[in-house]
Amino acid sequence: MEIAPIPTDAYKLGFIGAGKMAESIARGVVLSGVLPPSRIRTAAHSNQLRANAFESFGVQVLPRNEDVVEDSDVIIFSVKPQVVKDAVLQLKALLSKKKLLVSVAAGVKLKDLQEWAGHSRFIRVMPNTPAAVGEAASVMSLGGAATEEDGNLIAKLFGSVGKIWKADEKFFDAITGLSGSGPAYIYLAIEALADGGVAAGLPRDLALSLASQTVLGAASMSTNTGKHPGQLKDDVTSPGGTTIAGIHELEKGGFRGTLMNAVVAASKRSRDLS
Ligand SMILES: NC(=O)c1ccc[n+]([C@@H]2O[C@H](COP(=O)([O-])OP(=O)(O)OC[C@H]3O[C@@H](n4cnc5c(N)ncnc54)[C@H](OP(=O)(O)O)[C@@H]3O)[C@@H](O)[C@H]2O)c1
Repeated sequence: MEIAPIPTDAYKLGFIGAGKMAESIARGVVLSGVLPPSRIRTAAHSNQLRANAFESFGVQVLPRNEDVVEDSDVIIFSVKPQVVKDAVLQLKALLSKKKLLVSVAAGVKLKDLQEWAGHSRFIRVMPNTPAAVGEAASVMSLGGAATEEDGNLIAKLFGSVGKIWKADEKFFDAITGLSGSGPAYIYLAIEALADGGVAAGLPRDLALSLASQTVLGAASMSTNTGKHPGQLKDDVTSPGGTTIAGIHELEKGGFRGTLMNAVVAASKRSRDLS
Protein backbone atom coordinates (compact mmCIF):
# COMPACT_ATOMS: atom_id res chain seq x y z
CA MET A 1 0.00 0.00 0.00
CA GLU A 2 1.14 3.51 -0.84
CA ILE A 3 2.27 5.79 1.99
CA ALA A 4 -0.21 8.66 1.64
CA PRO A 5 0.68 11.94 3.35
CA ILE A 6 -1.23 12.65 6.57
CA PRO A 7 -3.48 15.70 5.89
CA THR A 8 -1.86 18.18 8.32
CA ASP A 9 -4.86 20.52 8.48
CA ALA A 10 -7.46 17.81 9.14
CA TYR A 11 -5.84 14.72 10.66
CA LYS A 12 -7.19 13.13 13.81
CA LEU A 13 -5.00 12.01 16.70
CA GLY A 14 -5.80 8.95 18.82
CA PHE A 15 -4.26 7.69 22.04
CA ILE A 16 -4.23 4.01 22.97
CA GLY A 17 -3.76 4.29 26.75
CA ALA A 18 -5.43 7.24 28.46
CA GLY A 19 -2.76 7.64 31.13
CA LYS A 20 -0.61 10.47 32.44
CA MET A 21 1.70 10.76 29.45
CA ALA A 22 -1.20 10.74 26.96
CA GLU A 23 -2.97 13.42 28.99
CA SER A 24 0.16 15.63 29.12
CA ILE A 25 0.59 15.41 25.35
CA ALA A 26 -3.12 15.94 24.62
CA ARG A 27 -3.29 18.97 26.94
CA GLY A 28 -0.12 20.45 25.42
CA VAL A 29 -1.41 19.94 21.89
CA VAL A 30 -4.72 21.64 22.75
CA LEU A 31 -3.20 24.50 24.79
CA SER A 32 -0.67 25.34 22.07
CA GLY A 33 -3.42 25.31 19.42
CA VAL A 34 -1.69 22.59 17.35
CA LEU A 35 -4.99 20.66 17.30
CA PRO A 36 -8.48 21.40 18.66
CA PRO A 37 -9.74 18.81 21.19
CA SER A 38 -12.41 17.73 18.68
CA ARG A 39 -9.61 16.13 16.61
CA ILE A 40 -8.25 14.10 19.55
CA ARG A 41 -9.73 10.85 20.85
CA THR A 42 -8.92 8.06 23.27
CA ALA A 43 -10.63 5.16 25.03
CA ALA A 44 -10.58 4.58 28.77
CA HIS A 45 -9.42 1.14 29.81
CA SER A 46 -10.70 0.19 33.29
CA ASN A 47 -10.55 3.49 35.15
CA GLN A 48 -13.46 5.90 34.44
CA LEU A 49 -11.54 8.74 36.12
CA ARG A 50 -9.16 8.71 33.16
CA ALA A 51 -12.11 9.26 30.80
CA ASN A 52 -13.24 12.22 32.93
CA ALA A 53 -9.74 13.74 32.79
CA PHE A 54 -9.77 13.75 28.97
CA GLU A 55 -13.41 14.83 28.61
CA SER A 56 -12.75 17.77 30.94
CA PHE A 57 -10.84 19.54 28.15
CA GLY A 58 -12.99 18.38 25.26
CA VAL A 59 -11.29 15.19 24.07
CA GLN A 60 -13.69 12.48 22.84
CA VAL A 61 -13.57 9.24 24.80
CA LEU A 62 -14.73 6.37 22.59
CA PRO A 63 -15.86 2.98 23.88
CA ARG A 64 -13.02 0.80 22.52
CA ASN A 65 -9.41 0.97 21.32
CA GLU A 66 -10.66 -0.24 17.92
CA ASP A 67 -12.91 2.84 17.63
CA VAL A 68 -9.92 5.08 18.35
CA VAL A 69 -7.84 3.45 15.61
CA GLU A 70 -10.65 3.54 13.05
CA ASP A 71 -11.31 7.21 13.75
CA SER A 72 -7.66 8.41 13.81
CA ASP A 73 -4.89 9.07 11.29
CA VAL A 74 -2.09 9.29 13.85
CA ILE A 75 -2.12 6.82 16.74
CA ILE A 76 0.07 7.17 19.82
CA PHE A 77 0.53 4.02 21.89
CA SER A 78 0.91 5.32 25.45
CA VAL A 79 0.31 2.17 27.48
CA LYS A 80 2.93 0.74 29.85
CA PRO A 81 5.85 -1.00 28.09
CA GLN A 82 4.74 -4.48 29.18
CA VAL A 83 1.27 -3.90 27.63
CA VAL A 84 2.39 -2.51 24.24
CA LYS A 85 2.81 -5.85 22.50
CA ASP A 86 -0.72 -7.04 23.35
CA ALA A 87 -2.25 -3.65 22.52
CA VAL A 88 -0.58 -3.47 19.09
CA LEU A 89 -1.29 -7.12 18.25
CA GLN A 90 -4.98 -6.78 19.19
CA LEU A 91 -5.33 -3.84 16.80
CA LYS A 92 -3.08 -5.18 14.03
CA ALA A 93 -5.89 -5.79 11.52
CA LEU A 94 -6.79 -2.08 11.65
CA LEU A 95 -3.25 -0.67 11.57
CA SER A 96 -2.85 -0.02 7.84
CA LYS A 97 0.02 1.99 6.37
CA LYS A 98 -2.41 4.87 5.90
CA LYS A 99 -2.02 5.45 9.64
CA LEU A 100 1.08 6.86 11.28
CA LEU A 101 1.90 4.92 14.44
CA VAL A 102 3.87 6.25 17.41
CA SER A 103 5.05 4.62 20.64
CA VAL A 104 6.23 6.43 23.76
CA ALA A 105 6.83 3.19 25.68
CA ALA A 106 10.23 3.19 27.35
CA GLY A 107 12.56 0.43 26.18
CA VAL A 108 10.32 -0.99 23.41
CA LYS A 109 12.27 -1.18 20.16
CA LEU A 110 11.12 -0.13 16.68
CA LYS A 111 12.05 -3.55 15.31
CA ASP A 112 9.46 -5.20 17.62
CA LEU A 113 6.83 -2.46 17.20
CA GLN A 114 7.07 -2.76 13.41
CA GLU A 115 6.82 -6.55 13.55
CA TRP A 116 3.73 -6.46 15.79
CA ALA A 117 2.03 -3.78 13.67
CA GLY A 118 2.89 -5.47 10.37
CA HIS A 119 4.43 -2.31 8.90
CA SER A 120 7.15 0.21 9.61
CA ARG A 121 5.34 3.54 9.38
CA PHE A 122 6.16 3.81 13.06
CA ILE A 123 7.96 6.46 15.11
CA ARG A 124 9.42 5.81 18.54
CA VAL A 125 9.51 8.78 20.93
CA MET A 126 11.18 8.97 24.32
CA PRO A 127 9.66 11.89 26.25
CA ASN A 128 10.26 12.67 29.93
CA THR A 129 8.01 13.65 32.84
CA PRO A 130 8.34 17.46 32.52
CA ALA A 131 5.96 17.00 29.56
CA ALA A 132 3.31 17.56 32.24
CA VAL A 133 4.45 21.22 32.54
CA GLY A 134 5.29 21.74 28.87
CA GLU A 135 9.05 21.28 29.32
CA ALA A 136 9.74 17.76 28.07
CA ALA A 137 13.06 16.79 26.55
CA SER A 138 11.97 14.27 23.90
CA VAL A 139 13.84 12.33 21.25
CA MET A 140 12.35 10.51 18.27
CA SER A 141 13.58 7.86 15.91
CA LEU A 142 11.80 7.08 12.63
CA GLY A 143 10.92 3.58 11.47
CA GLY A 144 11.66 2.42 7.91
CA ALA A 145 8.46 3.65 6.24
CA ALA A 146 7.97 6.87 8.26
CA THR A 147 8.46 9.85 5.96
CA GLU A 148 10.17 13.16 6.64
CA GLU A 149 6.68 14.77 6.76
CA ASP A 150 5.63 12.18 9.36
CA GLY A 151 8.68 13.19 11.44
CA ASN A 152 7.78 16.88 11.10
CA LEU A 153 4.20 16.20 12.21
CA ILE A 154 5.38 14.33 15.32
CA ALA A 155 7.98 17.03 16.05
CA LYS A 156 5.13 19.56 16.04
CA LEU A 157 2.94 17.45 18.35
CA PHE A 158 5.70 16.80 20.90
CA GLY A 159 7.03 20.33 20.43
CA SER A 160 3.83 21.44 22.14
CA VAL A 161 4.99 19.82 25.41
CA GLY A 162 8.66 20.78 25.27
CA LYS A 163 11.57 20.27 22.90
CA ILE A 164 12.22 17.33 20.63
CA TRP A 165 15.28 16.08 18.78
CA LYS A 166 15.75 13.32 16.20
CA ALA A 167 18.36 10.62 16.88
CA ASP A 168 19.34 7.14 15.80
CA GLU A 169 17.57 4.50 17.88
CA LYS A 170 20.94 3.07 18.99
CA PHE A 171 21.20 6.09 21.34
CA PHE A 172 17.91 5.43 23.15
CA ASP A 173 19.41 3.68 26.18
CA ALA A 174 21.81 6.59 26.70
CA ILE A 175 18.91 9.01 26.21
CA THR A 176 16.94 7.13 28.86
CA GLY A 177 19.92 7.46 31.24
CA LEU A 178 20.23 11.19 30.60
CA SER A 179 16.88 12.85 29.88
CA GLY A 180 14.59 9.98 30.90
CA SER A 181 16.02 9.57 34.40
CA GLY A 182 17.60 13.04 34.57
CA PRO A 183 14.65 14.87 36.17
CA ALA A 184 15.05 12.64 39.25
CA TYR A 185 18.75 13.53 39.55
CA ILE A 186 17.84 17.20 39.49
CA TYR A 187 15.05 16.74 42.08
CA LEU A 188 17.74 15.31 44.35
CA ALA A 189 19.97 18.29 43.61
CA ILE A 190 17.13 20.74 44.37
CA GLU A 191 16.38 19.01 47.65
CA ALA A 192 20.07 19.00 48.61
CA LEU A 193 20.48 22.69 47.74
CA ALA A 194 17.45 23.48 49.90
CA ASP A 195 18.86 21.39 52.75
CA GLY A 196 22.10 23.34 52.41
CA GLY A 197 20.14 26.58 52.64
CA VAL A 198 18.40 25.35 55.78
CA ALA A 199 21.74 24.27 57.24
CA ALA A 200 23.03 27.77 56.53
CA GLY A 201 20.04 29.28 58.39
CA LEU A 202 17.26 29.82 55.81
CA PRO A 203 13.60 28.98 56.45
CA ARG A 204 12.65 25.75 54.59
CA ASP A 205 10.05 27.32 52.23
CA LEU A 206 12.37 30.06 51.10
CA ALA A 207 15.28 27.62 50.68
CA LEU A 208 13.20 25.29 48.48
CA SER A 209 11.84 28.13 46.33
CA LEU A 210 15.31 29.57 45.84
CA ALA A 211 16.77 26.16 44.99
CA SER A 212 14.09 25.39 42.34
CA GLN A 213 14.26 28.83 40.75
CA THR A 214 18.08 28.71 40.71
CA VAL A 215 18.05 25.41 38.79
CA LEU A 216 15.43 26.80 36.38
CA GLY A 217 17.44 30.01 35.89
CA ALA A 218 20.73 28.18 35.33
CA ALA A 219 19.08 25.85 32.78
CA SER A 220 17.62 28.87 30.96
CA MET A 221 21.02 30.58 30.92
CA SER A 222 22.58 27.47 29.43
CA THR A 223 19.84 27.14 26.79
CA ASN A 224 19.31 30.81 25.94
CA THR A 225 22.82 32.33 25.96
CA GLY A 226 24.39 29.59 23.82
CA LYS A 227 27.44 29.81 26.12
CA HIS A 228 29.25 26.66 27.19
CA PRO A 229 28.37 25.81 30.83
CA GLY A 230 32.08 26.01 31.72
CA GLN A 231 32.09 29.61 30.47
CA LEU A 232 28.93 30.42 32.45
CA LYS A 233 30.61 28.98 35.55
CA ASP A 234 33.78 31.02 34.94
CA ASP A 235 31.62 34.15 34.51
CA VAL A 236 30.30 33.84 38.09
CA THR A 237 33.45 32.74 39.93
CA SER A 238 35.48 35.74 41.07
CA PRO A 239 38.97 35.19 42.50
CA GLY A 240 38.84 34.22 46.18
CA GLY A 241 35.03 34.59 46.10
CA THR A 242 32.09 32.66 47.50
CA THR A 243 31.19 30.66 44.39
CA ILE A 244 34.66 29.20 43.83
CA ALA A 245 34.69 28.16 47.51
CA GLY A 246 31.43 26.22 46.90
CA ILE A 247 32.70 24.73 43.64
CA HIS A 248 35.89 23.57 45.38
CA GLU A 249 33.71 21.54 47.77
CA LEU A 250 31.70 20.06 44.88
CA GLU A 251 34.91 18.98 43.12
CA LYS A 252 36.30 17.46 46.35
CA GLY A 253 33.04 15.44 46.59
CA GLY A 254 33.33 14.17 43.01
CA PHE A 255 30.15 15.99 41.90
CA ARG A 256 30.81 15.77 38.16
CA GLY A 257 32.04 12.18 38.23
CA THR A 258 28.99 11.16 40.28
CA LEU A 259 26.57 12.68 37.77
CA MET A 260 28.42 11.06 34.88
CA ASN A 261 28.29 7.70 36.68
CA ALA A 262 24.54 8.13 37.27
CA VAL A 263 23.87 8.61 33.55
CA VAL A 264 26.09 5.68 32.58
CA ALA A 265 24.52 3.37 35.23
CA ALA A 266 20.95 4.27 34.19
CA SER A 267 21.84 3.76 30.50
CA LYS A 268 23.27 0.35 31.27
CA ARG A 269 20.17 -0.55 33.28
CA SER A 270 17.96 0.52 30.36
CA ARG A 271 20.02 -1.68 28.01
CA ASP A 272 19.75 -4.65 30.40
CA LEU A 273 15.97 -4.20 30.77
CA SER A 274 15.21 -3.85 27.06
N1 LIG B 1 4.99 9.25 32.50
C1 LIG B 1 6.10 9.67 31.91
O1 LIG B 1 6.63 10.70 32.21
C2 LIG B 1 6.75 8.89 30.81
C3 LIG B 1 8.01 9.28 30.31
C4 LIG B 1 8.56 8.56 29.25
C5 LIG B 1 7.85 7.51 28.68
N2 LIG B 1 6.65 7.16 29.22
C6 LIG B 1 5.94 6.03 28.65
O2 LIG B 1 4.59 6.37 28.46
C7 LIG B 1 3.80 5.20 28.58
C8 LIG B 1 2.60 5.50 29.45
O3 LIG B 1 3.06 5.90 30.72
P1 LIG B 1 2.12 6.67 31.76
O4 LIG B 1 3.00 7.25 32.78
O5 LIG B 1 1.17 7.52 31.00
O6 LIG B 1 1.36 5.40 32.39
P2 LIG B 1 -0.13 5.33 32.97
O7 LIG B 1 -0.52 6.64 33.54
O8 LIG B 1 -0.19 4.10 33.80
O9 LIG B 1 -1.01 5.12 31.65
C9 LIG B 1 -1.18 3.91 31.00
C10 LIG B 1 -2.65 3.81 30.65
O10 LIG B 1 -2.82 2.69 29.81
C11 LIG B 1 -4.10 2.12 30.13
N3 LIG B 1 -4.15 0.75 29.63
C12 LIG B 1 -3.67 -0.39 30.17
N4 LIG B 1 -3.90 -1.44 29.36
C13 LIG B 1 -4.55 -0.94 28.27
C14 LIG B 1 -5.07 -1.51 27.08
N5 LIG B 1 -4.94 -2.82 26.81
N6 LIG B 1 -5.65 -0.70 26.19
C15 LIG B 1 -5.79 0.64 26.42
N7 LIG B 1 -5.34 1.22 27.54
C16 LIG B 1 -4.71 0.45 28.44
C17 LIG B 1 -4.16 2.21 31.63
O11 LIG B 1 -5.52 2.13 32.03
P3 LIG B 1 -5.96 1.39 33.37
O12 LIG B 1 -5.23 2.04 34.48
O13 LIG B 1 -7.44 1.63 33.38
O14 LIG B 1 -5.58 -0.06 33.20
C18 LIG B 1 -3.56 3.61 31.87
O15 LIG B 1 -4.55 4.62 31.85
C19 LIG B 1 4.71 4.11 29.15
O16 LIG B 1 5.00 3.17 28.15
C20 LIG B 1 5.95 4.84 29.58
O17 LIG B 1 7.11 4.06 29.38
C21 LIG B 1 6.07 7.82 30.26
